[in-house]
Amino acid sequence: MPATASAGPLRVGLAGVGRFGQLHASVLADLPGVELCALADPDPVSLARVADRHGVMARYGDALDLIADDSLDAVVLATPDEQHGPQARTALARGRHLFVEKPLAASWHDARELQQLAAQAGVTLQTGLILRYEPSHRWLRQRIVDGAFGDLVSIRARRNCSRSSFAAIADRIHTVHRTLIHDIDLLLWFSGSRVTSVVAMEVRQGDHLAPQGCFALLRLADGAVAQLESSWTVPAQAPANVLTDDWQGCIDAELAVVGSQRTARIQGLQTPLQVWSDHAQQHPDMTLWPEADGRVFGALRDQLADFTGCLRRGEASTVANLDDAVEALRIAEAVITAGRQGEVVSVSARG
Ligand SMILES: NC(=O)c1ccc[n+]([C@@H]2O[C@H](COP(=O)([O-])OP(=O)(O)OC[C@H]3O[C@@H](n4cnc5c(N)ncnc54)[C@H](O)[C@@H]3O)[C@@H](O)[C@H]2O)c1
Repeated sequence: MPATASAGPLRVGLAGVGRFGQLHASVLADLPGVELCALADPDPVSLARVADRHGVMARYGDALDLIADDSLDAVVLATPDEQHGPQARTALARGRHLFVEKPLAASWHDARELQQLAAQAGVTLQTGLILRYEPSHRWLRQRIVDGAFGDLVSIRARRNCSRSSFAAIADRIHTVHRTLIHDIDLLLWFSGSRVTSVVAMEVRQGDHLAPQGCFALLRLADGAVAQLESSWTVPAQAPANVLTDDWQGCIDAELAVVGSQRTARIQGLQTPLQVWSDHAQQHPDMTLWPEADGRVFGALRDQLADFTGCLRRGEASTVANLDDAVEALRIAEAVITAGRQGEVVSVSARG
């Protein structure tokens, strides 16, 4: 893994300064050893607001123009999901180190191609696996790997999102690629095993690319079973736990791990901080991307610190695993196929 050539700060460009990209910008502008040098977004108002906030001079109307900026060491893509694959291909072909928000690409085929391109170019390719940097998930995974849970029996994960957010993704990306991909990654990371078969069901209301709900049972090679659920059904009065300056919503997430020796649960809405008003309840998450004093902390910061720190030291990340990210897209496709066809789908061993 080659270190970046310059001895100065790592020069990073960020494409996409929407809801999540703004958080990336705050982190990248604040990380030691990193200079946020360029931003891209076709929305001139968002672009100017975020660039002015962080004093970024190089501003582009499209990710591809930013990728062509040869003064950059690395590029971060927080663009709409369906654009990741083509933009990542261009960035890797130009020899940029690259962080791509999840999903890495729209298909397993595209993800494998990106992995090959990165290997050929000798650059780092990392994708958003944010829960690997969240303290409770990290703590739990370490105990599982250390054997404290004995043999894994089952993993159950729920990730239900605000109904009001559905319209923004309904015709752009499948629910499995948008949200369930997090839980597929956790499954691979916690179990260290591979998925051998999948059965799934979708709930569709209306004629959208994304189903409102997706429910899957997966068999692992070590004999354990996983039950994953993701939907866009959480009503507006649910406590808001995901908050930014101009948006708030709810991710009702829960993870349960059952082993032969122990069981554990992580409950997303049971936050220690709870705020009530006459109109709403907030349970602000303090682990993923909490903001205070104009800075962003938590797992998002740790993830970008890992990406940029590894680049500066010329090391590979011990947390992010590209093989797993690519494999997760293969399993995602098996879940989508099983949901559409209503049949058991077998998943062969990794090639
Ligand atoms: N890891 C997580 O937990 C997590 C959470 C939320 C979002 N995300 C991911 O972050 C990405 C962005 O999501 P979001 O919620 O911020 O979406 P968003 O729609 O709010 O923001 C996308 C931004 O990209 C801009 N854009 C569109 N086309 C572009 C182009 N060609 N070049 C540059 N910019 C372009 C848009 O104008 C917009 O500002 C998605 O891939 C999403 O899946 C990850």
